[in-house]
Amino acid sequence: MYLLYQTVIHCYSSLGDESLIISTALTRSLYSGNSGFKEVYRKELLEHLKTDPLLQDLHDAGMADTSRLNAPAIIADCPYLGSCSHICDFGGGLGSFLYAVLSHYDFKMKGTNFDLPDVIDNSKDYVKGMNVEEHISLVFINFTDKLPQFDCDCYILKDILQNWLDEDALLILSKVESVAKRNKSRLVIIENMMFKNL
Ligand SMILES: C[S@@+](CC[C@H](N)C(=O)[O-])C[C@H]1O[C@@H](n2cnc3c(N)ncnc32)[C@H](O)[C@@H]1O
Repeated sequence: MYLLYQTVIHCYSSLGDESLIISTALTRSLYSGNSGFKEVYRKELLEHLKTDPLLQDLHDAGMADTSRLNAPAIIADCPYLGSCSHICDFGGGLGSFLYAVLSHYDFKMKGTNFDLPDVIDNSKDYVKGMNVEEHISLVFINFTDKLPQFDCDCYILKDILQNWLDEDALLILSKVESVAKRNKSRLVIIENMMFKNL
């Protein structure tokens, strides 16, 4: 109940008022092709977060709480993760999904969390707070640049592709493929599914 409460508070704080306001821009979005966020705030969410460090902190904490809640179901559904020796999470936010996987397997594998510099700054505090600095390394990346080569046997993209236009998502996938191919690594993509009958 506490976790649920925390998630609601964090998500409400990070995208609460905004998600209500941007939903009113749906019709404009359909005509312009811009995101609802851009229609309302004249900038995309990530640029908006940069305007106030508190917004960035709340957003990152909201993502981390959501991941903490859905991680057990994903771990149960993906036993392959337990066979890995080095898991790399691209766009892993604070690193809470990596933490959930590694702690589930008693830290028998290591993890590297990759994200934008502001998020990695927050991830440093998270990883230190969880006392897992020796198990989780942190690396800056930007999906728009070349991705670094690491010796990971598993790459994760969790709740990433949904945020990009199809052509950008394909570009990210081809970049991840080119780094993953060299080590014959696997890529695990985790996204929300929309069911037609809902
Ligand atoms: C929806 S969150 C998902 C976070 C995490 N994977 C999870 O499931 O909790 C998207 C993540 O992508 C990161 N991100 C957005 N644009 C990025 C970029 N250009 N390069 C690298 N990471 C980016 C964000 O900072 C954020 O942490």
